[in-house]
Amino acid sequence: MRKLLVFFCLALLVACNTYRPLTDVVPVSATPYKSMVIPPSPQPTDGDPVAGFDYLVHGDYIGSGIPLKIMQKQAPKMPGVDSMPFVRDSLSEGLPYYMTAFIAPNGAEVANGNCFTCHAGEVDGQLVLGLGNSWAEWEANMKPMGTVMRLGMALGYKKDDPQTVAFEDFGRYFKAMAPKVKVTQPGANPAFRLAEACMMHRDPDDLTYVGDPLYAMWDYNIGTDTPPLWNVKKKNSLYFTGIGRGNMPKLLLQASVLGVPDTSQTRKSVEAFEDVYAWLQTLEPPAYPGSIDEPLAREGEALFTDKCAGCHGTYGEEETYPNKVIHLDVVKTDRLYADYIRKSGIVDWYNSSWFATSAPQSSFTPTDGYVAPPLDGVWATAPYLHNGSVPTLYDLLDSPSRPTRWTRTGDPKDYDHQKLGWQYDPAPKNKKWTFDTEVPGYGNGGHTFGDKLSEAERWAVVEYLKML
Ligand code: HEC
Ligand code: HEC
Repeated sequence: MRKLLVFFCLALLVACNTYRPLTDVVPVSATPYKSMVIPPSPQPTDGDPVAGFDYLVHGDYIGSGIPLKIMQKQAPKMPGVDSMPFVRDSLSEGLPYYMTAFIAPNGAEVANGNCFTCHAGEVDGQLVLGLGNSWAEWEANMKPMGTVMRLGMALGYKKDDPQTVAFEDFGRYFKAMAPKVKVTQPGANPAFRLAEACMMHRDPDDLTYVGDPLYAMWDYNIGTDTPPLWNVKKKNSLYFTGIGRGNMPKLLLQASVLGVPDTSQTRKSVEAFEDVYAWLQTLEPPAYPGSIDEPLAREGEALFTDKCAGCHGTYGEEETYPNKVIHLDVVKTDRLYADYIRKSGIVDWYNSSWFATSAPQSSFTPTDGYVAPPLDGVWATAPYLHNGSVPTLYDLLDSPSRPTRWTRTGDPKDYDHQKLGWQYDPAPKNKKWTFDTEVPGYGNGGHTFGDKLSEAERWAVVEYLKML
């Protein structure tokens, strides 16, 4: 009996430990459902898109990094180094498109990742700038990489070498974020966790380094899909939940928290990010590369106007986009990410920080739902939903056919031109590329708005979606 009791207690302890992270994020508010439309806020209109693109791929917004010499040695072995979709400046010559070389404030030549680490992706055999990168490897443990980097620095450079000094900030924030960003599903991106892990070590007023974390972080590593950047021009808020409000260039500047020393550098970057924002507004989705059955697509358009446009807007000659956040009780997709964000310490941190208190102001305003996104170029943006849990558009519109576990082939060229999305195997064998929708945060339920369509109607809507 005693043995049984001990066993029971142990089991309970294990169970409590396992489940604790989830009960930590039970919904905090029970606000009654209101369809919420996010109003526009003033945005800069005089940015220079050409200068913006140049800054995005050559600018110094990360502030610190790895000595350029080391990076140049590694570059030939790095994935994607052979495809260069734009002209490089001489300093970044030879680096892959997702890396940038720049001069740190103390004059040292360093290199670091740029926005295209996460925001350039491959679909149907083409590399598309602005498409979310669902092939990045965030399932790997980054802690050993941090150790190797620090070791390499200690062996190759003296303590007061300019390269050592120019690595210090990045090294610190990399160390802080590495244990917090290892996700469990292929393609999932931990950008929100990365921001939390860096901001908690920054003084909100001047962004200088603080040793003791300023807030606690939930210990469950959650990741999301990466949205395409060409939708920004239609949106009044940023991010899946619509949490990012106010001045968008300021919100984009968050990418700097991984390496800038303090606000002396971010203040200088604000104007450059107005140019980046201008570039984002010129970005167009890639056209569907296959053939389109026009009469069928027109049938689909009528159904779309009737059943989908109220949330997703209209396309073609008369473009409209309503900017709606749909309450969790209505969209019913996995709510963990929205619940997580509402409880995160980063919200109060952000709203009391330089990002929110200095002009032009931005803020974090959590919501009880997910934004119904614009569907431009949606053929290219698999996998679907904020958590990337659904591999094709057909499956999205027929919830019973969504696979519980699915394995993509591992080759971005493998595109399903019928169902629109990734070719997948619903009986997984290769664990590396298997997505498991039973893991908390990655559920594939909800958004059942396509279920009531007949089979023929569903194929018509899929055909129409090729045209957006
Ligand atoms: C570590 C990967 C990563 C990097 C680096 C990164 N992003 Fe993102 N970005 C994401 C993810 C993931 C999201 C979605 C997060 C969410 O919505 O909650 C996102 C969201 C966005 C959005 C909002 C899109 C929308 O539809 O709401 C914009 C705009 C954006 N990023 C621009 C940039 C720019 C510009 C840079 C470089 C300065 C950058 N990002 C760097 C991963 C990244
Ligand atoms: C009541 C509002 C609403 C209606 C009606 C609606 N949607 Fe959605 N849709 C959403 C929301 C909200 C999301 C984001 C959910 C999430 O990410 O968890 C979404 C996501 C999507 C996505 C995924 C986009 C991506 O890139 O991940 C597609 C595709 C889509 N909807 C198509 C449709 C189609 C087609 C219809 C009509 C049959 C439709 N929706 C009807 C609100 C709606």
